[in-house]
Amino acid sequence: MARSRKRHEHDDQPRRPRAGRAPIIELNDVTKVYPGGHMALDRVSLSIGRGEFVFLVGPTGCGKSTLIKMLIRELSATDGSVKIAGRDIGALPEKKIPQLRRNIGTVFQDFKLLPNRTVYDNVAYALQVIGASRAEIREQVPATLRMVGLSTKLNSYPDQLSGGEQQRTAVARAFVNHPPLLLADEPSGNLDPVTSIGIMQLLYRINKTGTTVVVVTHDREMVDNMRRRVVELYEGRVVRDEVSGGYTEESTSEFGLRMRAEMGVGAQGEGQTNGHSRDHGLA
Ligand SMILES: Nc1ncnc2c1ncn2[C@@H]1O[C@H](COP(=O)(O)OP(=O)(O)O)[C@@H](O)[C@H]1O
Ligand SMILES: [Mg+2]
Repeated sequence: MARSRKRHEHDDQPRRPRAGRAPIIELNDVTKVYPGGHMALDRVSLSIGRGEFVFLVGPTGCGKSTLIKMLIRELSATDGSVKIAGRDIGALPEKKIPQLRRNIGTVFQDFKLLPNRTVYDNVAYALQVIGASRAEIREQVPATLRMVGLSTKLNSYPDQLSGGEQQRTAVARAFVNHPPLLLADEPSGNLDPVTSIGIMQLLYRINKTGTTVVVVTHDREMVDNMRRRVVELYEGRVVRDEVSGGYTEESTSEFGLRMRAEMGVGAQGEGQTNGHSRDHGLA
């Protein structure tokens, strides 16, 4: 098995052989002190393996967004090391940072879509900036928008979409180049419960393709029902890291049905009103 994995690496990823077995995220005693002296993270150590689905929770101000920003080198650690796929990103030269970010999709609470571009162009733009070919863009953009259930909205502008549709567009943009890691900072913070389940279902689907997914959320009920690993921060420290078993073999549609049942909501949310559930191909 070791031999076949090695051969596979050489065939597919000739430039990343050493990083192959390292956890996708590894924090060692990471401390972050903001200018002014506030300690937002206090000796955080954390390892997240490839393909995991992890919730990051904790009260407002406990350091969740700070941690997310460290993973894309939007912030640097004051002390300790942050490794992505085995590479210490604290030591990364500035000119290598765009390359790091290409491998990490990000989704935020406020969507951050370009208002003057259509759904299609918002997603295509993410591929254009990394130098994808036109053929690749023509193939990947519609496929990804189909995956998120937005095939009928390609030519809509963000202000013509519901909140859930805007977030689906943002998820499509983050995933269109199939990064190994996707970070979502309160992706359902502005959405109603039914729509939120739809977004979680989508992140679950993305995780099933092999992408590691880290989701910051305040939604305790969602976290409890999803039964995935939960890392909890409190005042900058990890106070809980629980791996919750079960349900790993669920299909995405089984997952959606169970979540809606457990959270006591019907299937009438905005994500279900225009054939999205059939459009997804989520099963
Ligand atoms: N740029 C900044 N400068 C100074 N303090 C900051 C900055 N950003 C965040 N903080 C502080 O760091 C702490 C953690 O913030 P944050 O990571 O945004 O928390 P969370 O996302 O968990 O709500 C908070 O007390 C916040 O006020
Ligand atoms: Mg935050």
